[in-house]
Amino acid sequence: MVEGDGMRLRDINGREYLDATSGGVWCVNVGYGRKSIAEAVCAQMIKMPYYAASAGNVPYAEFAAKLSSLLPGINRIYLSNSGSEANEKAYKMVRAIGHMKHNGKKKTVLYRNRDYHGTTIGALSSTGQQERREWFGPFAPGFAEIPHACCYRCPFGKTYPGCDIDCAKAMEDVIQREGPDEVGAAIFEPITAGGGVIPPVAEYYDVIQGICRKHGVLLIMDEVVCGMGRTGKWFGYQHYNASPDIVTMAKGVASAYMPISVTAATEQVFAQFLNDPGDPMAYFRDISTFGGCAAACTAALENTRIIEDEKLLENCRVMGERLLAGMKDMADLPKVGDVRGRGLLCGIELVEDKKTKAPVHESYVIKVVGEMAALGVLAGRTNRSLPGHNNIVNLAPALIATKDDIDAILAALKTALLKAAQ
Ligand SMILES: Cc1ncc(COP(=O)(O)O)c(C=O)c1O
Repeated sequence: MVEGDGMRLRDINGREYLDATSGGVWCVNVGYGRKSIAEAVCAQMIKMPYYAASAGNVPYAEFAAKLSSLLPGINRIYLSNSGSEANEKAYKMVRAIGHMKHNGKKKTVLYRNRDYHGTTIGALSSTGQQERREWFGPFAPGFAEIPHACCYRCPFGKTYPGCDIDCAKAMEDVIQREGPDEVGAAIFEPITAGGGVIPPVAEYYDVIQGICRKHGVLLIMDEVVCGMGRTGKWFGYQHYNASPDIVTMAKGVASAYMPISVTAATEQVFAQFLNDPGDPMAYFRDISTFGGCAAACTAALENTRIIEDEKLLENCRVMGERLLAGMKDMADLPKVGDVRGRGLLCGIELVEDKKTKAPVHESYVIKVVGEMAALGVLAGRTNRSLPGHNNIVNLAPALIATKDDIDAILAALKTALLKAAQ
């Protein structure tokens, strides 16, 4: 790809596309060609590009203050450069608290099947996508998996609402198996993104939160995809009754104009590192050379201003409803098994047989996405993540999408689904 403007991209051959992926992996939330971000970054680079977080810099402090106003109850902001690093920092907090406060216990982190948490070894060790892990073991110890929350393929063979939310309750069985004094935290994508766009049912996090409180387990929300407006609220967890202890985020923080990620913690988590002033080691001894780089913080500040001033959360909600409704209208088309989504994060699961729900082969999804690209619309898909279940087409346009953009995306999807089935 060579250049972009708003929702549109141009490739090296001069072909134009409507981008329904926000930069391929759900990053460019405010769209391409934002001069105000580039100019703010340029001015900051000339003023002072960098000073390490040991002293900090003004854009860091300003962005941290702004972000904590969007995260009620969560006001300690640590910056790094990627989603994986942000999650590693969260795990380091859990492990350090285990060392300091629980006699070296409570260090195990639970993660959910089908969730993705990153490419580094710790993040991959806590990723519930087998094909992403293959060949990269041995994995780090101290992680354990809980079942996914996809109703269409309920791991317990039940149907909502008569299911008692067994998928969430199963977390307690895993805690009992691992030992309640060993489990220190549980990490969730509020809405599973790359694992197939799976919004859990409304009560899901009530159950999860209750189990966390009962067993003194910290709740970590990985908002790397959902954060910064993607689902129509600032953060995905804000659709639910959830009060996380740690929130991580990356992609939309500066809409990928600059690399920046965040690990945000509550005052209670922060305080764990403060209450032994006699021990010079009792602080969160973490460092990230480029984390908190002044120019990246400037980009994040301007990105946040754009989302607020242009009311992009509201646009995301309205356009997201239009997109999801249009996709649901395709339920009777060949191979359409399930349609899911929230805000501008939507997925359509394709099956060979609507009764047995046997998934189509990944090559079929590649065909659908290829047909869409031929029609000038870029869509995404589950990509070598879940053995036998890479059968989901993803649509996640920028938060600036208009009605015409959404209708054009829907029209291309419909044509592609019909063509692929011929
Ligand atoms: C939910 C989630 N967490 C973490 C990551 C890792 O982020 P990064 O690729 O910036 O390390 C990703 C990347 O796609 C993600 O989708």
